[in-house]
Amino acid sequence: MLFLIALLAAIFGFLFGTDQGVISGALPLLKKEFVFTAQSEGFMTGAVPFGAIFGAILALVTVDRFGRRPVLTFCAILFAAGSLAAAMAFSVWSLTVARLVIGAAIGASSLVAPMYLAEIAPARIRGAVVSAFQLMITIGILAAFVVDWAFSFTGSWRYMLGFSLVPAMICLAGIVKAPESPRWLVLAGRDKQARDVLKTVQPEATAERLDKIVEEIESGRPGDPAEESWSRFKEPALRGLLIFSVLAFFLQQFSGINVIMNYAPRILENAGFEGLANELVATMGIGALNVSVTILAMIVVDRLGRRPLFIFGFVGAFLSMTLVAVLFQLNDNNLAWLSLLGLFSFVFFFAISLGPLPWLYMSELFPLALRGKGMAIASISNWLCNFLVVFLFPVLAAGLGEAMTFGMFAACCAFGIWYAWTFAPETRGLVLEEIDQTIASASETGKTS
Ligand code: BGC
Repeated sequence: MLFLIALLAAIFGFLFGTDQGVISGALPLLKKEFVFTAQSEGFMTGAVPFGAIFGAILALVTVDRFGRRPVLTFCAILFAAGSLAAAMAFSVWSLTVARLVIGAAIGASSLVAPMYLAEIAPARIRGAVVSAFQLMITIGILAAFVVDWAFSFTGSWRYMLGFSLVPAMICLAGIVKAPESPRWLVLAGRDKQARDVLKTVQPEATAERLDKIVEEIESGRPGDPAEESWSRFKEPALRGLLIFSVLAFFLQQFSGINVIMNYAPRILENAGFEGLANELVATMGIGALNVSVTILAMIVVDRLGRRPLFIFGFVGAFLSMTLVAVLFQLNDNNLAWLSLLGLFSFVFFFAISLGPLPWLYMSELFPLALRGKGMAIASISNWLCNFLVVFLFPVLAAGLGEAMTFGMFAACCAFGIWYAWTFAPETRGLVLEEIDQTIASASETGKTS
């Protein structure tokens, strides 16, 4: 049962990736069928992160009241309905609305699915959950690039966009049968049901052990509402952490990653590559590199530490983006392969550092009582910045030119080097309670992070 639940949460991560990645290969075909302006191209592409802002807010206000399972069921329905509507789109605006719906599902499920999994899994595997969910996102992006390539030969963008209907239906069938989170059940005063669920996911546990788990959940129940109040973010140390996380996501997005993930074939075409199939093969290479380096990051992050890896990532991302910008300025078709090298090296530095680290920091830094709220605000900032970059890219590229636009991303990465150097904390090897302790004492002395 536990394995099936983990698989279910993983499919939510996968859907996040496919629905985000699929548009890159569909866009060149959509442009043949519909008339786009720079603004409508940006808004249709950015509709997913834009919808996700509202999805995350929706999850924040419903997940404790109604439970994890109803929210995830609703997400699966939105995923299925959105994919179907996107595949059947008859205009730019109908496609944009379909992508807004998909975005809302992504925004809500990316907060609730890892939470559900972490609450249902035994403590010893909880740590792997954050990184596993991230990995599934990158696998989803790669799957979308492969699907785009496969359907590019027939030019069927409707199949590309409709592909995620399959995992969405699997999710729907799974979540309807899955149990509610035992932690939520205890918080809702339904201890007996919570015990029944725990018994199905941990069949080897004895009756005493199950009592102990329920007791532990109860003792973790927020006793004092003041502990959990939004106003605690006014405390200097907590305010510092919130600003640190929000800025980490700002820089993650303004490094330009999603311009590559959403517009790779178009960038390659402008860099001198010929033929959609060739561009899509190169795009698949980018997706595969993203997956493999994310696995590498999961291995090295505990050895090298968060701080050095964060600084290293910004330095590499800065150099790679600068190379891409300079090549666009030179505008020499013979150097197309060098642009590809620049994009690959950027994705390497992103996936080893800028990609996973802000998510990891956000799940480690906030004290337990405020973790849900802190994570929600940080991920809303992720979506907002993601939307701004994806929406603005076609507009900026048309207005300022590609060289200048990539130059601006390079400048953000340069700022990131200073930022990581000055503010990034080291949390390697500390248990969560020790991190809580450090923050609490910093808060008392009024020191910001
Ligand atoms: C970012 C996403 C991005 C993905 C690429 C994540 O860490 O938040 O916006 O598309 O990495 O792998």
